Amino acid sequence: MYAAVLLFVFMCWTASAHADQHHPCRSPNMTGLLSVMGAMGEVRAVGVFTYDSMHKKLRFQSNSSLPMNVTLDLDLLVFFEEGILYKIDSKNQSCEKKSLQSKKHPFAIPNDATYISTMTSGSTFIEGEGLKFQIWTIPTPGYKGQSLMCATMGCLPLSTIYMTDSSMFIYSNLNVELDIKDPDLLVVPPFCQGLHVEETPEGTVYGFYEEFL
Ligand SMILES: *[C@@H]1O[C@H](CO)[C@@H](O)[C@H](O)[C@H]1NC(C)=O
Ligand SMILES: *[C@@H]1O[C@H](CO)[C@@H](O)[C@H](O)[C@H]1NC(C)=O
Ligand SMILES: *[C@@H]1O[C@H](CO)[C@@H](O)[C@H](O)[C@H]1NC(C)=O
Ligand SMILES: *[C@@H]1O[C@H](CO)[C@@H](O)[C@H](O)[C@H]1NC(C)=O
Repeated sequence: MYAAVLLFVFMCWTASAHADQHHPCRSPNMTGLLSVMGAMGEVRAVGVFTYDSMHKKLRFQSNSSLPMNVTLDLDLLVFFEEGILYKIDSKNQSCEKKSLQSKKHPFAIPNDATYISTMTSGSTFIEGEGLKFQIWTIPTPGYKGQSLMCATMGCLPLSTIYMTDSSMFIYSNLNVELDIKDPDLLVVPPFCQGLHVEETPEGTVYGFYEEFL
């Protein structure tokens, strides 16, 4: 699988010789499902996400009791603009507040992304049988990594491949609707309010992507 991804990356680099002027677009507000798959095909997380693209707020809840062998039980509330990540445990009403270094995540094409090419998954010629998408590469400072994102022409991120020298994850956005179903999900729960960010290494996380390691 790793080799296949590297080949894909190589083809993208080759195609980039023809790249013209494309600028990262801003994704709309979204509600949908996020699935996170690891290099061995294991499902790390699956759950509902809510993303406010204007205020750059995200809620993601993965539920390991789904019948899919999901590894992680996660409930994250992230304020990318402020660089704050809450790990929420609704069962015992507890919460950790961490400072977030990287603003990158699978719901928006970052401003430093580079356009690679446009492709169609399925058929270009048969109406309704093809999905046209753009491929972007995303810098991963501090890692010998590589990240690629595919997004529709309307700026809906479809999938993101995130590779470091030791791991690889594929983030897929599914069943997306273009609004926020439950704005309360983007509000800090009462039991998380008034917390301070710990001034320790444990109080800092690099980015959203690393929460799935
Ligand atoms: C996205 O949702 C926020 C409320 O959470 C709203 O203020 C904003 O206008 C919405 N953006 C769009 C493009 O609908
Ligand atoms: C996870 O799913 C189970 C079964 O559908 C449900 O009972 C439980 O409340 C869910 N947990 C969370 C945190 O959503
Ligand atoms: C879930 O994972 C366990 C061990 O990792 C494996 O034995 C089992 O077959 C898996 N179940 C499904 C439905 O994939
Ligand atoms: C909440 O529960 C988790 C495990 O479900 C545990 O690790 C954590 O320490 C608990 N927190 C509190 C404050 O009880």
